[in-house]
Order: sequence, then structure tokens, then C-alpha cells
Amino acid sequence: MISSDELLVRLLLTGYRSLVRPLMFTQDAEEVHQHVITLLSELPDPVLEQIQKYLGERSQPISVAGIDFPGRVGVAAGLDKDGTAARAWGALGFGFAELGTVTAHAQPGNRQPRLFRLPHSRAIINRMGFNNSGVEALAAKLEQWGVRRANNALDYPVGVSIGKTKVTPLDQATDDYLHSLRAIAPYADYIAINVSSPNTPGLRSLQDRDALDDLTTALVATAAELNPRNPVPIFVKLAPDLAPYDLDGIIGVCEEAGISGLIATNTTTAREYLHPSELHLANQAGGLSGAPLTRKALRTVESIASQTDLPIMGVGGIMTPTDAQSFFDAGASLVQVYTGFIFNAVALVRGINTLTYPDRARR
Ligand code: FNR
Repeated sequence: MISSDELLVRLLLTGYRSLVRPLMFTQDAEEVHQHVITLLSELPDPVLEQIQKYLGERSQPISVAGIDFPGRVGVAAGLDKDGTAARAWGALGFGFAELGTVTAHAQPGNRQPRLFRLPHSRAIINRMGFNNSGVEALAAKLEQWGVRRANNALDYPVGVSIGKTKVTPLDQATDDYLHSLRAIAPYADYIAINVSSPNTPGLRSLQDRDALDDLTTALVATAAELNPRNPVPIFVKLAPDLAPYDLDGIIGVCEEAGISGLIATNTTTAREYLHPSELHLANQAGGLSGAPLTRKALRTVESIASQTDLPIMGVGGIMTPTDAQSFFDAGASLVQVYTGFIFNAVALVRGINTLTYPDRARR
């Protein structure tokens, strides 16, 4: 006999895959994305409450880096860059959301088209380039909703991913990140430092040992200045394409600087495991996410977990609850989804929330 939870997940999956997704996938990817975010942002509270009641139950709350997470699956950065739909994520079953990536200055991102679906590969290639309304706009939005760090106004912890503005020269990157940190720290439960997007020229070089050392040390020091008794925890988000030696160095730098945890991983610049019918998209510039990334991201999480006790948020190719289970088994305390949510919608979130896994999480 299957449980009522399993039945609900199967019904949601079938409905989404056979009716909603085929329709959505006939339309331009970015337009659909905007429509869905707008729709979610416009749902009135009573509707959100009903959705929460039937779908949004979260499970296995956990405290990580001093933050209380009501569930272990979160919205990955980039899905809601400007926090437009932030009121809805908890109702859909997410235990946290990483809003952004926002930059110190608003910017339009790369020219369209810049978002490509690869349905047979269960993947996405994107080169959005941090299109966002800027850190101040996100701060204003959170202020308007009464969000303050740790006040749980949205019913889940709010992470904010910050990145470098494109026009800011690399040697002034630290000031750019510091500007964003100062603007958003009063509102965020944690800050994610994005040094791993492949779509801002030179950004990934901030993962180089010395550059990362300067950046993380400055950010941790500023967080401590802003709130000496309880500085906002800072996480660093890494690429899946790092050589083992570089990853070792990065972990050492993060531990020394007082970083609170690692997020692994961002999209990959590799083009492995694509379905033969979609190989023609392989030379689209950008980061690849979804099923072709699962193994690589999982290996990165395993590698990090074998070298440090820092908490890990696992992300990259989590398309099924079983994938999420593998990330938890590999040492992730929390997971995030983006592409899996596009392909499976709330069924994935619900499925992860109903996993019964042994609690070996690091906090
Ligand atoms: C992303 N991702 C991302 N990451 C980040 O740190 N800041 C960002 O602004 C974005 N933007 C973004 C846009 C789009 C369209 C995609 C598909 C992805 C990366 C994302 O958060 C995640 O790390 C990867 O996509 C891997 O996870 P999934 O998608 O395989 O679950």
C-alpha cells in the first residue's frame, strides 16, 4: 500500500508533467519564468494559506549556523533574483529561500536569448548574467514586508546571494560585495557569496586562493562590525568545476576567514551527459544545471564533507527526492533546488519533505 503522501506526490507529478509542463515548455523560457514569478507574487494570503495546508508541510527542522530552518529544502539562488515571489515560497513547502543574486548596482544582464531548456537532458543552460534590480531594491522590498533578520516574517529564513556588478573592475570587487553586505545584512538570515557564476566575466577567479582570502576576510570582518554580538552568517557558493587541489585551498581559506558554511554547487561549464538530440545546444555559452550536473555536484559535496566540519548546502541536479537523499547522505545539512523545480514543481519539494532520512547533519 502506498502512503497518502506518496499518492499526493504522484498525482502532482502526473498533473504537472502531463498538463502544465508541456504547455509551459512551448513558450519562451524566460517569459514563462517571469509569468510564474508574477503569479506567485500575486497570490493572496488566504490562497497561500490553503496551499500551505495541503502541500507546504515542512519536515525535519534543523538549526544550522545558528539559523532555525523549518525544513531542509530551499529555493536556489537565481530562481527569485529580486525576491518578487518571496511571500509564496514557504507555502510551497520550502524551508528557506536564497534570494538574489543581487549586485550593488541594478543591471540588465546579458542579451536575450539567455535561457535554454534541454528537456531530454532534464537540464537548463543559462547565461543570465545577474539581471537584477540591485541590492537596495531587494532591501526595500523586504523592509516593506516587515522582514528583519531572524524575525521569521516570511515563515522561513531568508538567504541573500550577493555578486559583483558587471561594470565593477575585478580589483574593486571587495568594495562592491561590501556595499551589498551593508545594505542587506539587516534583512538576511544568511548571506551567500557568489564567486562561482560562470556568466560574469572573471567572477570565478575570485575563487583563487588570495582573492578569496581578501574577500572573505573583509566580508566576515564587516559582518562583525555591523553586528558585533551576532554577525550575520556568511556562506560561500562554489563551482562544481574546481580541481581537487583548488577546492582544498578554498576550504582552508573559508575555515580561516570564519565563513559559516559552503554551498555546493553552482552551474557547470562542462557539457557532459547531454542527450544526443540536444548536443547542438552544447556550445551555447553559460552554465549547465539539472540532471547532467548531479554527479559532479554530489562529488563536490562528498569531497567538502571529507575535509571540513563546515555545514554544507547541497545543490546541483537534485531532480528527485532520491537525489536529495544522496546529498544528505554525502554530508549536506540542507539542499536547494532550481532546475528540478522547473521540471517537477511542488511534487519535488513535497517528495523531499516526506523523505525519512537518518539525521547525520552537521550544524
Ligand atoms: C542559476 N543559478 C544561480 N546561482 C547563483 O548563485 N546566483 C544566481 O543568480 C543564479 N542564477 C541562475 C539562473 C538560472 C536560470 C539557473 C538555471 C541557475 C544556479 C543555481 O542556483 C544552482 O546552483 C544551479 O542551477 C544548480 O542547481 P540545479 O538547477 O541543478 O537544481
